[in-house]
Amino acid sequence: MKYLVVLCALVYFVQGKVLPDRVSNLLCRKSDPEYEKCIRKNLEKSIPQLVKGVPEFNMPPIDPLELPFVTVDRTINELVSINAILKNVKVIGASNFVIEDIRANPHNYTAEMRLTFPWTHLEMDYDVNGQLLIVPLRSKGYFNGNFTETQLYVRGNLKTVDKNGVKYFRVDKFSMKIRVGDGRVKLISENPELQFGADLIANFYNDNPRRVMDAINPIFVETATELYRVVLDQVLSAVPAKEWLPE
Ligand SMILES: *[C@@H]1O[C@H](CO)[C@@H](O)[C@H](O)[C@H]1NC(C)=O
Ligand SMILES: *[C@@H]1O[C@H](CO)[C@@H](O)[C@H](O)[C@H]1NC(C)=O
Repeated sequence: MKYLVVLCALVYFVQGKVLPDRVSNLLCRKSDPEYEKCIRKNLEKSIPQLVKGVPEFNMPPIDPLELPFVTVDRTINELVSINAILKNVKVIGASNFVIEDIRANPHNYTAEMRLTFPWTHLEMDYDVNGQLLIVPLRSKGYFNGNFTETQLYVRGNLKTVDKNGVKYFRVDKFSMKIRVGDGRVKLISENPELQFGADLIANFYNDNPRRVMDAINPIFVETATELYRVVLDQVLSAVPAKEWLPE
């Protein structure tokens, strides 16, 4: 019984929420004959809002984007495998994007978008094991890297689910492609005596950023896709579908 009361309070709390004006002012109407144009204009206008995030709707700030803890455990083949625990991950520069193309259809809830990030900085504490082509990955320490001309292509669609007679959006299909143009990284080993191993990894990357990034790209993309899908679902579940997409 107690459990039920708590549950009802939770449902009320979530359903009682309405989008604040600073968010609802950035949405486009389903009936807008120039819906795509509106989306593009509003995405540009929403950058300051994205930077800060909307904490009451589980929308994290995107610049800097901070992730306290990420685990990666993927094997592509005997030459590329990464088993890593990443902490205090911080990405700077994600709000500084150029919109190359946006397509969105408010009737079947499909969207695709192409963005370029001219410069991003990534830093984190890492603990990694695995293999990166000819270099064994066995290092623990602090990572920082700068990346230029990152191209992001996202496409997906939403579906609606019924919660107590109210329609909510959920992510249906969602995929991303990411191509980092160029990059330079530095690894500082926690144990100074093992700095040699950290330098080996960094030098290998810095000598062939393209080759290394192509090799690890599936791991990178899979991790990012899972992460964004979860965040997007959390944000969408905050208010009913008709609030996100007013008539
Ligand atoms: C959604 O509608 C657009 C435009 O009518 C169409 O091009 C696209 O194929 C549709 N997508 C799906 C998944 O139905
Ligand atoms: C990345 O850029 C920052 C700021 O310009 C700099 O402090 C840092 O050393 C750079 N990192 C690498 C690996 O070049």
